[in-house]
Amino acid sequence: MSFVIHKFKELESTNSHAMEMARLQQMFHGDVVMAQCQKAGRGRMARSWDSPEGNLYFSIILQPKVGIEKLPEISFLAAVSLRLTLEKLLPESHKKIQNKWPNDLLIDGKKIAGILLESDALSGFTKGFVVLGIGVNLISNPQQTIFPATNLQEFSLKILPEDFLKIFLDEFEILYQKWLDFGFDLIRKIWLQKAWNLGVEVTIKIDGKTQKGIFKDVDLQGNLILEMDGKVQKILVGDVC
Ligand code: BTN
Repeated sequence: MSFVIHKFKELESTNSHAMEMARLQQMFHGDVVMAQCQKAGRGRMARSWDSPEGNLYFSIILQPKVGIEKLPEISFLAAVSLRLTLEKLLPESHKKIQNKWPNDLLIDGKKIAGILLESDALSGFTKGFVVLGIGVNLISNPQQTIFPATNLQEFSLKILPEDFLKIFLDEFEILYQKWLDFGFDLIRKIWLQKAWNLGVEVTIKIDGKTQKGIFKDVDLQGNLILEMDGKVQKILVGDVC
């Protein structure tokens, strides 16, 4: 796959712009939309994503020839690629870089990056493309968050958004091909190698309700498998803390 990077000074949201361009058939598989800042950056669960200048904000348009049910796997693929990128950049912090379900990246237990995968196909209208949006805290992070956040400068790493993006795209390209060739189980296994709180009791918040359970596994559909009161429960969406 070859990537074409489209750089913008400011956008409402790189995900929205990429989605619009893909719908209009002005951008295609491998096009990457990057912005120096976003005025209306979006996160999971309809949250906003603080997007001041200096951090990395980008979205990749992908049109994989796979069934719709496999599209959510791409966010795990991206999470593993982000982890490998961070491990390359911070070799001495290796042990502290973890994947948090469903697709957050943590360093030292604090969130450094987030992933938002959106698709018309996921809401029933099949055009066959997805938009993979990623935000990485390079020089700053929001203060008032439900889960603690951090940024790469706190780990003495100074890197330009473009440089981080290039390393990420190299990692992503390799894993994307592995995913097409060998399927999700391989990606799931690499994800689980550095999973935050695996085997430990976690709290899960779903629709304002809080439940506790032991984090046992992530299944072949990317669901979180928790053990609650001796019973195995499958969690499809929620916040883990
Ligand atoms: C999350 O953890 O809630 C996901 C955050 C995703 C943020 C990125 S920044 C680039 C892209 N454009 C957006 O509006 N959101 C994603």
